[in-house]
Amino acid sequence: MRSLLFVPGDAERKLAKGLGSGADVLIVDLEDSVAASAKEAARATAASFIGSKDARAAATLFVRVNDFSTGLTDEDLAAIMPAKPAGIMLPKCSSGDDVMLLSTKLRVHEAQNDIEDGATLILPIITETAVGVLAGATYQSTTPRLAGLTWGAEDLSAAVGARATRDADGRYTELFRHARTITLLAASAAGAPAVDTVYPDFRNEAGFRADCEEAERDGFTAKMAIHPAQVPVINEVFTPSPEAVAEAERVVAAFKAAGDPGVLAIDGKMYDRPHLRLAERVLARASNTKSG
Ligand code: COA
Ligand code: MG
Repeated sequence: MRSLLFVPGDAERKLAKGLGSGADVLIVDLEDSVAASAKEAARATAASFIGSKDARAAATLFVRVNDFSTGLTDEDLAAIMPAKPAGIMLPKCSSGDDVMLLSTKLRVHEAQNDIEDGATLILPIITETAVGVLAGATYQSTTPRLAGLTWGAEDLSAAVGARATRDADGRYTELFRHARTITLLAASAAGAPAVDTVYPDFRNEAGFRADCEEAERDGFTAKMAIHPAQVPVINEVFTPSPEAVAEAERVVAAFKAAGDPGVLAIDGKMYDRPHLRLAERVLARASNTKSG
């Protein structure tokens, strides 16, 4: 999994368009991109889309439900689970306890809908509230359902009262860099992929590409998109390059040839176990770009 494209759940034209986007995952949204008055219609549209053969063949289908504080989550799940989505995105997630609560709910829906126990994945957005950011360590040992951890800036700015997310040079301000870093650490601690947040300025291709490259450099292995034009850039940046794969293969081969030592030299540079782990991660991503 590299690219995850948001599509408003009540927008049939965009849902159809999303299938041709090349996104690894479509996130059919029932939350912020759907007006309160359209929630019910969006549930029905989303369920019929997710249940359709064409959609299931084209991409992995997730649904973003409304968060627990809205009181809408159960109705969302009741409408959507019969269509058997591959995963549920949980916004404004406060801690690992919210993930466990959703997991328990999913078990019931799975039993009712002839879905294998544990098959539905969970992708929480962990930085949309202040308490969420502070609870980054609580995702360890939650559930094998975790498809990754991701973060969001817009709701956090509203929660904290920060008037901007970026400074005059376009860099995230301290608060948002912190939330982003917490996500990387929380994902690593939980042994789950770190998924970078959206880039709302969708006409700014250079800015978007730079954002993708920074995320990939820092350890994110996937990124969310809000527009189909962003998907090919994400897929390119988050697929390890042939050079990176060749370099990783060289490191792994050198360790193997030397009898798997703790440390060795390649071309006059030291390589120890962390370098080997990094190389193995690159190879794992290269061999499994869609689901890894
Ligand atoms: N998924 C699928 N198709 C999309 C799309 C998306 N996220 N965003 C745009 N498209 C389609 C449009 O429908 C349009 O198709 P058409 O020409 O066949 O009508 C085409 O791509 C070009 O769209 P464009 O005119 O460039 O953008 P727009 O002004 O129509 O839409 C947004 C801009 C931001 C409203 C739209 O991209 C969008 O809805 N994004 C997702 C928002 C979302 O889900 N937010 C929640 C998470 S932050
Ligand atoms: Mg939001």
